[in-house]
Amino acid sequence: MKKPILIINFKAYDNAFGKKGIDIAKKIEKISIEYSTEVTLSVPATMISTLSQEVSLPIYAQHIDDVDLGAHTGAITAEMIKEAGAKGSLLNHSEKRIRLDQIHNALTKMKKLGLESVVCIDRYELVNPIGLLQPDSILIEPPELIGSGISVSKAKPEVITKAVDEIKKTPSVYLIAGAGISNGDDVYTAIKLGSAGIGVASAVMKAKEPEKVVEEFIKGALRAIENG
Ligand code: G3P
Repeated sequence: MKKPILIINFKAYDNAFGKKGIDIAKKIEKISIEYSTEVTLSVPATMISTLSQEVSLPIYAQHIDDVDLGAHTGAITAEMIKEAGAKGSLLNHSEKRIRLDQIHNALTKMKKLGLESVVCIDRYELVNPIGLLQPDSILIEPPELIGSGISVSKAKPEVITKAVDEIKKTPSVYLIAGAGISNGDDVYTAIKLGSAGIGVASAVMKAKEPEKVVEEFIKGALRAIENG
């Protein structure tokens, strides 16, 4: 059976770091193990090392800077996140845009270091140009729906279907959809429309019982995959 790609972006929510960050990661890990379904956590840079040790889930950075080691105050490099235990990183999130040349440089470095990459984009027209740079995955998120509670699956399904068409030109790259994903049906629909999985933040990070939300997402994903 195909495996869904599920990425939970901790962003900078108040429970994304410290004890609360460990607590939510462990809750997600428990559900992930229960359903034998991998869930990737994209966490603040300061939490990569801790969470890599505390949970068995793949840990991603939320961003890396495209600089080599040296005199770059404040930089978070691919080498640093790898050493801290990250398996990969998001790049170019709507809340952390970088230039195209920086995306390319960062991807080249990540490949060399064996890090996985998920490049975020805000429109389907960018699927092919970014796909040509050969990241592992592309995460498409209409920015106006991010954090809105209104899912891309329901409000803009055509963004997913057009993106799915475009990704066929670079078949080794996975297409993931995100923005406003709120329930199992949103996940189900996104996958049925052809995406390989989903990226989500607020529905999990702001939930009273995040583990229940993640459980619903996993069930929605597995249902979509089972139904072909
Ligand atoms: O990286 C995923 C994120 O931008 C989606 O945010 O809050 O709409 O699930 P949200």
